[in-house]
Amino acid sequence: MNIKRVVLAERPKGEPTIDNFRFEEIDIPRLQNGELLLKVRWLSLDPYMRGRMDGAQSYAAPVSIGEPMQGECVAEVIDSRNQKFTTGELVTGRFGWVSHAISNGEELRKIPKSNVPEQTALGVLGMPGHTAWVGLNKIAKALSGETIIVSAASGAVGSLVGQLAKKKGLRVIGVVGSQQKHTYVIEELAYDGCINHNTVSSVGDFRELVASHCPEGVDVYFENVAGITLEAVLPNMNDFGRIAVCGMISWYSGQGLQNAMAFPKFWRMVLVKRLRANGFIIFDHKESFPEFWKEVSPLIESGEIKYKEDIRKGLESAPDSFLELLKGGNFGKMLVEL
Ligand SMILES: NC(=O)c1ccc[n+]([C@@H]2O[C@H](COP(=O)([O-])OP(=O)(O)OC[C@H]3O[C@@H](n4cnc5c(N)ncnc54)[C@H](OP(=O)(O)O)[C@@H]3O)[C@@H](O)[C@H]2O)c1
Repeated sequence: MNIKRVVLAERPKGEPTIDNFRFEEIDIPRLQNGELLLKVRWLSLDPYMRGRMDGAQSYAAPVSIGEPMQGECVAEVIDSRNQKFTTGELVTGRFGWVSHAISNGEELRKIPKSNVPEQTALGVLGMPGHTAWVGLNKIAKALSGETIIVSAASGAVGSLVGQLAKKKGLRVIGVVGSQQKHTYVIEELAYDGCINHNTVSSVGDFRELVASHCPEGVDVYFENVAGITLEAVLPNMNDFGRIAVCGMISWYSGQGLQNAMAFPKFWRMVLVKRLRANGFIIFDHKESFPEFWKEVSPLIESGEIKYKEDIRKGLESAPDSFLELLKGGNFGKMLVEL
């Protein structure tokens, strides 16, 4: 038996391409005492992986050339020489884009037994869900009666932000990239309004649309995309508004930067409106995961909170699926089933 894996073949110049990845097979090493062998069942594809493809140092180290792409997985223990794990148990861990992995058991999380599908541990009940919950409650400190705009509103993070905000009594306006996503967030997730950023003709037009959807202004902006969405929302922010800076996917490969709002104009808007823009990285909030899980998992089990998955089949589909994710080609949490 071999380990199949997808490695970073070369660093992207601008937008990534399929040539940046390479498939490999390597022998499975013999298990040592204290180790376990895992078979990956689900791989999560997430926008942050784009940043890891660049050589620049960020809050996390980049993937080295020739090394497997990083990523979180649900895996089954298929052999164990570690007393803490038995064959058949399911765990999550950062095994990467691989078919099998060997682990010493550190940094693994056993998936608690529940009635929800195991792969939710990578989505609505995993890192993206936790990000939504932290961003809304601890970073933006959103309050009942306020208006929130959520970008990438049908996605893994955004769809939970919007639904939790509705439950808290906020007025929720989503920004999405297609009519299908628009219909979903209005009809299934019960948002109060939605804008399709792919149908706006200019930033000015977009700004007017935000104003018409938010007659009392925007108190909270949950930032997932930046770009023209940010430019359209900013002038509509109320004084003392808060921005939870979660992501900026429209800029991850450097697109659109030449036409972006000038920094002095942006900075002035932060000043005159006395905004609080608070960046956050979910890895700094590990201690709140149990609280998040305790609150959100019953809502998932009961169906009160909905989630959508975009499931691709086989490790070989990972590179193409990831490239699609970066362009909005996913509809729901992007997962690869191995
Ligand atoms: N700070 C943290 O710790 C943390 C943790 C997790 C995720 N994040 C960030 O949260 C954001 C959402 O992540 P996710 O996992 O939930 O992904 P997702 O929303 O499920 O998928 C990404 C979505 O981004 C939108 N998008 C892609 N390119 C865009 C563009 N050029 N302009 C506008 N929208 C674009 C697309 O939605 P539309 O088709 O609707 O435009 C796409 O479906 C990302 O920025 C990610 O990096 C941050």
